[in-house]
Amino acid sequence: MKLRIGVIGLGFFGSRHARVFSDHLSAELVGVTDLDSARTAEVAALTGAKPYADYKDLLASDIEAVSICLPDRQHEEVAIAAAEAGKTILLEKPLAHNADAARRIVEAVDANGGRMMVGHILRHDLRYVQVYEAAAPEKLGEPIHLRAKRNGVRSTARRLGASSSILFYMGVHDVDAMQWIARSRITRVYAQKREILGTGNEDVLYAMLSFANGAIGILDYSWAWPDGLMNGFRSAFEIVGTRSAAELDVADQGLYFVDDATTTGGDTHLWPEINGRVAGALADELDHFVKATLRGVPYVQHHHEALDAIPVLDALAESASTGVPVEVLR
Ligand SMILES: NC(=O)c1ccc[n+]([C@@H]2O[C@H](COP(=O)([O-])OP(=O)(O)OC[C@H]3O[C@@H](n4cnc5c(N)ncnc54)[C@H](O)[C@@H]3O)[C@@H](O)[C@H]2O)c1
Repeated sequence: MKLRIGVIGLGFFGSRHARVFSDHLSAELVGVTDLDSARTAEVAALTGAKPYADYKDLLASDIEAVSICLPDRQHEEVAIAAAEAGKTILLEKPLAHNADAARRIVEAVDANGGRMMVGHILRHDLRYVQVYEAAAPEKLGEPIHLRAKRNGVRSTARRLGASSSILFYMGVHDVDAMQWIARSRITRVYAQKREILGTGNEDVLYAMLSFANGAIGILDYSWAWPDGLMNGFRSAFEIVGTRSAAELDVADQGLYFVDDATTTGGDTHLWPEINGRVAGALADELDHFVKATLRGVPYVQHHHEALDAIPVLDALAESASTGVPVEVLR
């Protein structure tokens, strides 16, 4: 039995989704679509999928599942259309660009009796999952404090322009991870930001967080780094509890390519190309989606829990704009 699937949006990430599904033994990549017809033709030729000019035609086909890899602000319209068409949905993060839109998507999925998995890739990252396990109450005790960092380079900010924001493109990962690992919701935030690259977005955002269980946290987000930053990003996570602690540091992936001019790094875990296929956490995430959908078993994260991150992002944006602490409204 194979999962008949289509991919909508074939940019940086959707093209990778299409490659993973086309290579999966239990998936059949039936169709692909992008507003850019040349891109659609290119990915169709690469994967053997049928090219569609309009996502509505792909949703009207006999696919059972759809992967939506559109810019963040376009998730709502297409995810609701997919839910209403009765498709099982893999929706790239963030669920939506604000909490109201995210709730409308979840309501459409529930009203149509469908299933949806949000692409929170850290839930398939070998290290973050082990931090989650190490933070189990019987090992960690009570969480005292947490810290999360995700920093990237200027070319990412310039590529996305106003189509996303640092909070929605990168920040959702750590907000979801912090609430998941702390086993507690963020209730209050105080954020500051700077906008210097002129893309219409914040380029750095730091925030203090309060959790329902009494823990406090720090978020450190930036895509203001020069493009020479090795690997193009830095991420880190730590949680300290009353009995133990866990820490991960992705500054150094331990892989270097050196020539006479410079040293560069490599991707050892996200979506490296290994032996001609996309591997790493993305491949594991999509493998989980295919298998859990075909087996009818729950996804590692229920879509209602995925929704929990979005009101926190709204509160962070509001606090960064107003300069005062903001309660998270659920
Ligand atoms: N989990 C992760 O680590 C991760 C990494 C990168 C991107 N993402 C997410 O994936 C999504 C896509 O990001 P990206 O970096 O690939 O963006 P991108 O801009 O590279 O690609 C988006 C594509 O969607 C197409 N598109 C726009 N409107 C369309 C429509 N109505 N119909 C069909 N195609 C349309 C565009 O032409 C473009 O090719 C975003 O939600 C982003 O947050 C997740």
